[in-house]
Amino acid sequence: ATIEKGNYRHFMQKEIFEQPTVVAQTLRSYIRPLEQQVALPQMDFDLSSISRVTIVACGTSFYAGMVAKYWFETFARVPVDLDFASEFRYRDPVLEDGGLALFISQSGETADTLAALRHAKSEGQKIAVVVNVPTSSMAREADLLLPTHAGPEIGVASTKAFSCQLAVLAALAAHLAVVKGKMTRDEERDIVEHLTETPAALNAALAHDKDIEAMAHLIAPARDVLYLGRGPDYPLALEGALKLKEISYIHAEGYASGEMKHGPIALIDEAVPVIVLAPSGPLFEKTVSNMQEVRARGGKIVLISDAEGLAEAGEGCMATIEMPKVHPLIAPLVYAVPVQLLAYHVACAKGTDVDQPRNLAKSVTVE
Ligand code: G6P
Repeated sequence: ATIEKGNYRHFMQKEIFEQPTVVAQTLRSYIRPLEQQVALPQMDFDLSSISRVTIVACGTSFYAGMVAKYWFETFARVPVDLDFASEFRYRDPVLEDGGLALFISQSGETADTLAALRHAKSEGQKIAVVVNVPTSSMAREADLLLPTHAGPEIGVASTKAFSCQLAVLAALAAHLAVVKGKMTRDEERDIVEHLTETPAALNAALAHDKDIEAMAHLIAPARDVLYLGRGPDYPLALEGALKLKEISYIHAEGYASGEMKHGPIALIDEAVPVIVLAPSGPLFEKTVSNMQEVRARGGKIVLISDAEGLAEAGEGCMATIEMPKVHPLIAPLVYAVPVQLLAYHVACAKGTDVDQPRNLAKSVTVE
């Protein structure tokens, strides 16, 4: 069947708004609701014996992997290596016995990622894949297939595949923690509960679409934009910058909030908007001081935070976007929405071809 845009202007917009539905759909195959447990598909190896995880991907899928590194290490206490697929083979990585190599790809066909998978397999790693196309090459060559159920993604800039990848990776992190004995039944139940709340939180984030559209004109004239985030929201800053570059052609950089003072701060002036992704929490104060550093140099801030964070630090910002207050585990999923919408509306304000940005392809099958 042909896929239609329906009432949406672009496929990307439609796919952003599908996220509550497709994330719920994806989570359904990884959660047993009655037992409040995470469940994975059958595999022919023992996950509890995995001593190290190597995550490999490209583009937006790489940033999903970067979030997963935080989750695997925090919850399962398993060390994680992370590589761009195009770098992985050529650095001759040390792959010891007992390692799991995890490949993340919407298409399951990206040439660099597929070549990396084959290399890891030849080096004796167990192969897990998170893919959106279950008939893809990567799906066929995996020992453990972890499908996302995002449905076909047409917009070249990935959105719903990314949030579904995060949903699967969160479930995998929790399951790994359980089999490794690092997470109790009660803690697992708690995690499952938070994951189950994700679709509602995504809806709450989407409800700010009109506010974000209204502030897009503040970003559209910029030549450079900086995105800041900490911890598992740092990859979201990178993803936000990537989305903006891809579809609005504005130069954007993502930086770890605390690292800004070691370089990018030199760029700050009235002309460089700084988008800060900062849910309230233990590290919020540190981010507030980073914001003060920006402000002292005339920088204009867009703060994306929950009500608590906005009450504390929203004053004096050029704009704010309110997110629901969520568990830190699901914050990266929820904060994906405003960065996608911001890129989308800025691109619309600039009149670019949102679904078919110049020079980019949906699936890159050359190395
Ligand atoms: C291309 C697309 C990106 C995507 C990347 C990885 O560059 O334009 O949106 O993130 O490939 O694709 P994959 O299918 O492997 O996730």
